[in-house]
Amino acid sequence: MAEKIAAKPRFIAFEGLDGSGKSTHAKLFCNRLNELSVPCVFNFEPTDQTIGRLIRQILSGEKKADPRTVALLFAADRIEHITGENGILENLKNGISVVSDRYYFSSYAYQTTAMPLEWVMSLNSQAKEIAKPDCHIFIDISPETCLERIYKDRKTTSDIFENKKSLTAARDNFMRIFEMTAKDEKVIIIDGNDEIEAVSKKVFDSLKPLFF
Ligand code: TYD
Repeated sequence: MAEKIAAKPRFIAFEGLDGSGKSTHAKLFCNRLNELSVPCVFNFEPTDQTIGRLIRQILSGEKKADPRTVALLFAADRIEHITGENGILENLKNGISVVSDRYYFSSYAYQTTAMPLEWVMSLNSQAKEIAKPDCHIFIDISPETCLERIYKDRKTTSDIFENKKSLTAARDNFMRIFEMTAKDEKVIIIDGNDEIEAVSKKVFDSLKPLFF
């Protein structure tokens, strides 16, 4: 029997620490939707546009910037991701669901290692107002496992947050802020320690009710 496809396109944000597998799972989920004839696009933050490219130069240490500037750049990159050509709003308007690898919870979790949460949230309030995800999926892995995976894949770390202290702080922040925002954000935490297929199935099963 053919499954009923939701008329409304959805917007799903994938979150997780560096090395958690969130990008893999975001792509697998989007591909699975397409296979099931649900139009969906995958994209990511920082974007590969002007502001996103500048952010990557700062994260790699190639360029220096104050943490306030970094927080502002992430918020600006996000607004372009939402409103720009082939952005979140355009796709949703055309009936295409959007899967984003990272969104404003990444700013809440990472930029608050240096800046107050209230301020970071205020910078992102427009993003939340105009493009609030139907669901945020958090792929949960311990910071130690994330670092093992990062080293195994790349032999070396490559961004300023990819160390135990920052990843531990980011995970603690994610968990604390999920609790704080539980009333107005839908967040699903998935244990990412299993095999890829098993985690991917858990992701699909938990998001399925939004689509079918
Ligand atoms: P990441 O998803 O890890 O990129 P890549 O796929 O290139 O590894 O994101 C890059 C880094 O950006 C990561 O350390 C988290 C950080 N980040 C923030 O600090 N704030 C944000 O708002 C976003 C979107 C990412």
